[in-house]
Amino acid sequence: MPAITLTTLQSLKQKGEKIVMLTCYDATFAAAANAAGIEMLLIGDSLGMVLQGHDSTLPVSVGDIAYHTASVKRGNQDALIVADLPFMANASLEQTLLNSAELMRAGAHMVKVEGAGWLAEPIRQLADRGIPTCVHLGLTPQTVNVLGGYKVQGRSEAQARQLRADAIALEQAGAAMLLLECVPSDLAAEISQSVSIPVIGIGAGSGTDGQVLVLHDMLGLSLTGRTPKFVKNFMAGQPSIVEALRAYTQAVKAVTFPAPEHEFSA
Ligand code: KIV
Ligand code: NA
Repeated sequence: MPAITLTTLQSLKQKGEKIVMLTCYDATFAAAANAAGIEMLLIGDSLGMVLQGHDSTLPVSVGDIAYHTASVKRGNQDALIVADLPFMANASLEQTLLNSAELMRAGAHMVKVEGAGWLAEPIRQLADRGIPTCVHLGLTPQTVNVLGGYKVQGRSEAQARQLRADAIALEQAGAAMLLLECVPSDLAAEISQSVSIPVIGIGAGSGTDGQVLVLHDMLGLSLTGRTPKFVKNFMAGQPSIVEALRAYTQAVKAVTFPAPEHEFSA
C-alpha cells in the first residue's frame, strides 16, 4: 500500500471508503498490520492494560508510549502512526506541547488526546507547531474515575448536544481527526457527517468514517475474561494472525463490521 498521509485519509472520507485502524505496540505486529492493509496504527495507552496488566490506563507514562512508538516505527512501512498522550501528560499547555513533541520524535505522525471541547486551545497550538491531533471523545478511559465506570456516553440529549458541539469546535480549532468511543450509532453517524475531518469509531457503529480495535481484543485474547460488546474475534477460523488482520481490514472496508450486535443504541 502507498504511504498513508492525512491527505489520503481525507480523500478516503470524501470517497466514502472506510478507514482501518488498529492498535499496535511492536515492530513485528506493525509489519503484519502493513501486510494486512491496516492504514493507521495506534500506540494506545491501552498498552497499560494489555501489555502491562494494569486495571486501567492511568499508570502509563509518556516514556512507555514513546518506547512502543519507536518499536512500531521500526516495523512500519506505510501506515500512519498515531500515539496516545497518556493520563496527565497534558497537565499544562507546555507539558502538552513538549510531551507531544517527544511522541513525534519517537516516530508518531499524529498524537491522540482524550478530552472534549476544552482541548480547542492546545489543539490549535499543536497544529500551529506541526503536530496533527486526533481528539478522543465519548468514553474517555483516562477519566473512568469521573465517569463512574466504562459506560456508553451521549445517551442523554444534553450529552449528545455537547458532543455534537465539541466535534465542530475541535474541527474549527484544527483537529485533524476525531475518535468516538462507546457512543450510540445514530449520534456517531450524525457527528461524522457534520465535520469534514475523518471520524474513527470504536463501539460507535458503522456510520463513522473508520474503525479501530485493540489488537489483543480482536485476536481473541483477554486477560480478564471480559470482552466488550463492540469487539469481534477476527482470529476465529483464520489460519494465521496476518489473515486475521486481513479479515478485519476487509470487514471494515465492506462495512460488515461493526454489525448491529456490536453497536449501542441511544
Ligand atoms: O488506547 C487505546 O487503545 C485507544 C483505543 C481504544 C481507541 O485509545
Ligand atoms: Na487510549
